[in-house]
Amino acid sequence: MARLPMVAGNWKMHKTGGQGAILTQNLEYPVRDIKGAVEVVVAPPFTALQSVSSSIEFDKSPVKLAAQTMHWEDEGAYTGEVSPVMLTNLRVDYVILGHSERREYCAETDVTVNRKVRAALSHKLRPLVCCGESLATREGGGATAFVERQIREGLAGLDARDAEQLVIAYEPIWAIGTGRTATPAQAQEMCKHIRATLAALFGPAVAGDIRILYGGSVKPENAALFFGQPDVDGALVGGASLAVETFMPIVTAAIPAA
Ligand code: 13P
Repeated sequence: MARLPMVAGNWKMHKTGGQGAILTQNLEYPVRDIKGAVEVVVAPPFTALQSVSSSIEFDKSPVKLAAQTMHWEDEGAYTGEVSPVMLTNLRVDYVILGHSERREYCAETDVTVNRKVRAALSHKLRPLVCCGESLATREGGGATAFVERQIREGLAGLDARDAEQLVIAYEPIWAIGTGRTATPAQAQEMCKHIRATLAALFGPAVAGDIRILYGGSVKPENAALFFGQPDVDGALVGGASLAVETFMPIVTAAIPAA
């Protein structure tokens, strides 16, 4: 079965609730026009989830909602954290887990990513699991092994049915917010290796159905080059997701050729 392309906007620490609701509403018309050819997701910060969720619900929007992270416990004494129960209550569909910025600044590890992945699945939230190597790791020749380990450890203990819920994003750290992208060939090579790793873990049929996104300085000008690669099924977009004018051309570039 052909994989449905996905373009997800990771707003990071941008947009208030009001700004987020307006951006999402402005995305709804053009996203409706593409009639489900691409799954379009926005990931607002926690403080904007409620207002974006309400506007999506009210308008029966085709745009889906993701959170940028979560805790693995349902509730407890974890100051500043947000739980999977709180997210499902806002009708969140996806949760980004293991973004490199959380790994770098918030001490996230493959072990905590794995806890979160399993907690998300148990609450029927779909994990969008990020992986990707630093420049030093790539230049040292260890990128493939590094990313494979992130996948194996982050997804430890999952079975094939769990795996069907996953989306993976390959985001080389050196390409995030730098304007420097991986080449389409580099993205394809790593996404192919990720799929082979998923096949070893869950079988080739399940691996063939899992979407693998590329992320890192995806822009309207370069998106189609990535989407032309056989193992790249869409994009996780940072900066260019903050305005309709730059996000929608990326979405339309992901529409499969008829
Ligand atoms: P940029 O598109 O701003 O490089 O960010 C990529 C990213 O980290 C998405 O999660």
